[in-house]
Amino acid sequence: MTFSERLEELEKAVIDRLELSSTLGELEELKAEYLSRKGKFSLLLRELKELPAEEKPKAGESANSLKKKLDELLQSRLLAFKEKGQKTPEEFFDFTLPGHRSWEGKHHPLTQVLDRIIEIFYGMGFEVAQGPDIETNYYNFDSLNFPQDHPARDMQDTFYLANDLILRTHTSPVQVRVFEKKNPPVKILAPGRVYRHEAINARSYCLFYQVEGFYVDEGVTFADLKGVLVAFVKEFFGKEVELRFRASFFPFTEPSAEVDIRCIICKGKGCSVCKYRGWLEILGAGMIDPEVFKAVGYDPEKYTGYAFGLGVDRIAMLKYRIDDIRLFYENDLRFLRQF
Ligand code: PHE
Repeated sequence: MTFSERLEELEKAVIDRLELSSTLGELEELKAEYLSRKGKFSLLLRELKELPAEEKPKAGESANSLKKKLDELLQSRLLAFKEKGQKTPEEFFDFTLPGHRSWEGKHHPLTQVLDRIIEIFYGMGFEVAQGPDIETNYYNFDSLNFPQDHPARDMQDTFYLANDLILRTHTSPVQVRVFEKKNPPVKILAPGRVYRHEAINARSYCLFYQVEGFYVDEGVTFADLKGVLVAFVKEFFGKEVELRFRASFFPFTEPSAEVDIRCIICKGKGCSVCKYRGWLEILGAGMIDPEVFKAVGYDPEKYTGYAFGLGVDRIAMLKYRIDDIRLFYENDLRFLRQF
């Protein structure tokens, strides 16, 4: 192709693109591609010097007049667009407006606390196991030595689904499910949701989270139980936190205890969170009752074990000083974004 044919070709390309351009942005792109300093037209001009000397003056002249023509065409088209009120991309964008903040996703505060609890017990040799949220009466109550007329079985406390199915009221049934499948030694942590048909208020919700921990082997004692719980509390809340074991009762442990920690909000002086008692209950625990071992075929003469059930929501409320459990379940972003 001769130089003048290439000029013609370029002219046609630019004019076609001009016809097709319907926005200022497209015109700017066209200008950059063909008529800017590094555009296709400038590239073509560089080839001038390779032409025979006698052709150069004429070719240079027609190149110059074409450039002038195309610049003018583009200019008049730009002007026409501007008169119709079109804006360049730069004019569209208001750099002075405040930016949009985008939020990163993160774990729910309860999940964060649950993960930390699991991490601490994992360090003490506990493995994680899970059981179903929908349980039978057998696993939730019978196998755990609840008498037939125990008040917890009442419709007031338990959500009954169909036939024999209920929503588990605690994570202790996971003990029985694990014992049925594994022989001692077992050292398990079982986190999960539990459900209670209770009046909803700042301290109790119809569902909440527990972490069940249990260890069965030959020669496990109450001192072992105390050891892991003290180690956990100091690791989670800090070395200075005091705790106390209070005698209590559960059908599936004997002896049983509840563990309180010195209120971390008022440091024991008394405040609305600890109801002016200075102490807050965070878990139930005890030595697993021989009746439970009998139900799963463990020899109670050979094995002993402890179990504990931590209230995750309660622990999270203390850690973050939250005075209403319902906040965890409302998914109000103003609340969740603080963690
Ligand atoms: N399951 C009991 C509850 O929900 C807590 C518990 C667990 C007590 C393990 C003793 C041993 O209240």
